[in-house]
Amino acid sequence: MKVLSVVGARPQFVKLAPIAHALKKAGAQHVIVHTGQHYDRMLSDVFFSDLQIPAPDEHLGIGSASHGRQTGAMLAAMDEVLEKHNPDWVLVYGDTNSTLAAALSAIKLHIPVAHLEAGLRSFNRDMPEEHNRVLTDHCADLLLAPTEVAAAHLATEGLASRSVIVGDVMTDVLYQTRDAVTGQANPITQELSFAPGTYSLATIHRPANTDTREQLQAVVDSLKAIDHPVVLLAHPRLRAKANEHKIELSGGNLHLHEPLAYPQLVLAVSGARGVITDSGGLQKEAFLLRTPTTTVRTETEWVETVELGWNILAYPGEELTRAASRPRPTDTAAAPYGDGHAAQRVVQELSRNLR
Ligand code: UD1
Repeated sequence: MKVLSVVGARPQFVKLAPIAHALKKAGAQHVIVHTGQHYDRMLSDVFFSDLQIPAPDEHLGIGSASHGRQTGAMLAAMDEVLEKHNPDWVLVYGDTNSTLAAALSAIKLHIPVAHLEAGLRSFNRDMPEEHNRVLTDHCADLLLAPTEVAAAHLATEGLASRSVIVGDVMTDVLYQTRDAVTGQANPITQELSFAPGTYSLATIHRPANTDTREQLQAVVDSLKAIDHPVVLLAHPRLRAKANEHKIELSGGNLHLHEPLAYPQLVLAVSGARGVITDSGGLQKEAFLLRTPTTTVRTETEWVETVELGWNILAYPGEELTRAASRPRPTDTAAAPYGDGHAAQRVVQELSRNLR
């Protein structure tokens, strides 16, 4: 079996790691294509080295652009790559522009497409990720759902016959990394001298939070008003927008920091009293590490984190500031994201459904 994975953005490299290892273990051929959507070292290269992912076989070098231009450039570049490798499966990950471009290019060449993390929905049609995931699910041949909720969304959309629940591959890589870094120094307590459990970790990068001056100012003001230290891991998009809107990203209790590599992120989240974020993946990672989360969005795809009491959706302002200081919720043994062996099931499903 020959599988061609297409990745381009930071969360996709994390998901690729357990898949690359499981495909290797199963003796499958694996071609890795990097679209170039993320190109900064801390958003791309460090994930390949830290998570022992083989270097990409193909690099499209597309880079940043408006959504249409970026997606279109990837789509145009994929034809040659798919014709060259002619895989049994094109495997696409999550909900970025790289996901949609790869899925479209594959179906146009009649190559079977499998979508990892299928069925997630925010039902917010203003989000580029919602367009990407809905369109990808409807054109893919095999829908690999992480949860029962995701599978139910696919069934509602008439896609049940192409769907299977495999669990969440980010859980696989998170558990492996957590075990591998046990005993290592937490970069935040070490660099900034905060005691474990006394700081919160924040990440903000969604267009809805960064792109207008008013919203970004409201988010940053709320972070500054929190009653304990907050370390803001700044995505390049956040820095660019803060610069454009002339908003200071540090001051008072707010400390600006570079993005962290994956093992360091796991250490930093494990040692935090809370996480404040608009990232999808981080909400779930924090839940798995049992660090309470405040999500600066009006909805989440990972509804289980909210239902189990570990995640609160909050508007910027007093709601956010209050939520970030709330006491820890009651512990839970619930495991809605699987047992950490999802990648193995993905490979089994790809083999079983081979055309
Ligand atoms: C993308 C995904 C988003 C995902 C996020 C993870 C889409 C629509 N969005 O958002 O779902 O949660 O990745 O990080 O695909 N930039 C750099 N260096 C880089 C990459 C980006 O400086 O290596 C800057 C550029 O100014 C760029 C901006 O960040 O214009 C946005 O990058 P882009 O890839 O378009 O989207 P993200 O916001 O990263």
